[in-house]
Amino acid sequence: MKVIWASDYQEVSKRTADYIKAQILMKPNCVLGLATGSSPIGTYQNLVSAYQNGEVDFSKVTSVNLDEYFGLDGEHDQSYRYFMNHHLFDHVNIAKENTFVPSGITEDIEQETQRYEQLIRDLGGVDLQLLGIGHNGHIGFNEPCNEFVPQTHVVDLGESTIQANARFFGSVENVPKKAITMGIGTIMSAKKIILIASGQDKKEIIHRSIYGAVTPDVPASILQLHPDVTVIAAVD
Ligand code: F6R
Repeated sequence: MKVIWASDYQEVSKRTADYIKAQILMKPNCVLGLATGSSPIGTYQNLVSAYQNGEVDFSKVTSVNLDEYFGLDGEHDQSYRYFMNHHLFDHVNIAKENTFVPSGITEDIEQETQRYEQLIRDLGGVDLQLLGIGHNGHIGFNEPCNEFVPQTHVVDLGESTIQANARFFGSVENVPKKAITMGIGTIMSAKKIILIASGQDKKEIIHRSIYGAVTPDVPASILQLHPDVTVIAAVD
């Protein structure tokens, strides 16, 4: 595991965007695993600027997102599909049909999890997976629990996650209580992983994740066992 201590959010965003640009340069038809939330917004802004300056070409890139709320369609402004269109896809030359986010409005949610897992396999797996981290150590929507869940699956969101997301939905009651997420095994099968975090409130969980015991109680701790993880964090 390589750890880069950055000075602030801007540096995290710039360095992360540089890794993603390098990935696309090395393999123009790469598969990017993408995340939502506040952590990657600056990274996406840097990527949009790089595209506008002619430094990066997304035309052959495919993307798969980590997760989606259950019950929200892509037009809902809190859906992760909407987030990705708004922050990245609408501003670069990625082909929309090559951008994948789990469907939040599927009739058969179990079938959707299997379809998504198979889709990632059919794409040949993820070349570079970008991750944020929750205060409880969650990655994607893999919440602390008794065992690591390997594949894409349905989750009941943890109380702290629901509370943390209430600001986006007006009230706790409006926050979806379920989501579809890549599993820990899905994430771990990415060839390269970048975990980003900013803010003093993430300091403790970053330290527990990278220096503490590997346990499903801190889902991000499993990353210690992956052969190619870079943590880029500004938490002091
Ligand atoms: C988002 C995701 C989540 C977030 C995490 C941190 O797709 O999978 O695991 O990365 O909740 O969120 P922020 O960056 O808002 O602190």
